[in-house]
Amino acid sequence: MRQPLVAGNWKMNGSTDSVNALIEGLRAGIDTVTTAEMAVCPPYVYIPQVAARLAGTPISYGAQDVSDQEAGAYTGEVAPGMLADIGCKYAIVGHSERRSIYGESDEFTASKFAAARKAGLIPILCVGELLEEREQGITEQVVERQLDAVIDLEGIAAFASAVIAYEPVWAIGTGKTATPDQAQDVHAFIRGKLAGLDKAVADGVRILYGGSMNPGNAAELLAMQDIDGGLIGGASLKPDDFLAIGQAANA
Ligand code: PGA
Repeated sequence: MRQPLVAGNWKMNGSTDSVNALIEGLRAGIDTVTTAEMAVCPPYVYIPQVAARLAGTPISYGAQDVSDQEAGAYTGEVAPGMLADIGCKYAIVGHSERRSIYGESDEFTASKFAAARKAGLIPILCVGELLEEREQGITEQVVERQLDAVIDLEGIAAFASAVIAYEPVWAIGTGKTATPDQAQDVHAFIRGKLAGLDKAVADGVRILYGGSMNPGNAAELLAMQDIDGGLIGGASLKPDDFLAIGQAANA
């Protein structure tokens, strides 16, 4: 049985005060989430504050990105070991904003994935197609290429301690969600591809959906067989909405 994971990607939002208010809201309602694991990924600078305020709750936390390097002269980077050191469980890698705005390639993403795992973090590997790629009918090829970069570097066994997030780029921050069937099709494709290499790993890996998931559409997405949770952007900044998505996964 795969435990659903509902992870919040706060992106570049927040202040000391708003972070405190957000965590207070999550603490107040976390008892209403009975099945899913809840996690938040704040901007780096707020992670220690979040860690302190989450103490004693079952909510885990992680980072939105991570360096592919372990230590040294890499100005501006944050090493995976540092994130592990401050209690992070997860690191998102290959988010479409990293890929498209900052030009991070499949291979670079794979090296971040490897570095995260080496430090004991669980990478949340984001994959997903652009609108024009969907329109060209090459969604599966794009997702396969993104997965293959990681499999080539790390091997299939690495997915025993990793999470995948399928995020169609056209659905991110647009209010345009993939239909449950559209999402399920790609999730099943991903699991099927992994199953061709290792059935047990494929059965165990959590595949999250991301892209305008909200309290209104979460239940029908989470009801699909191969959708094991969500990676939530906008709605994760509102504690009640984020909790409602978590509740939608209640058994
Ligand atoms: P969104 O973002 O929920 O705001 O669409 C999801 C993401 O980028 O991970």
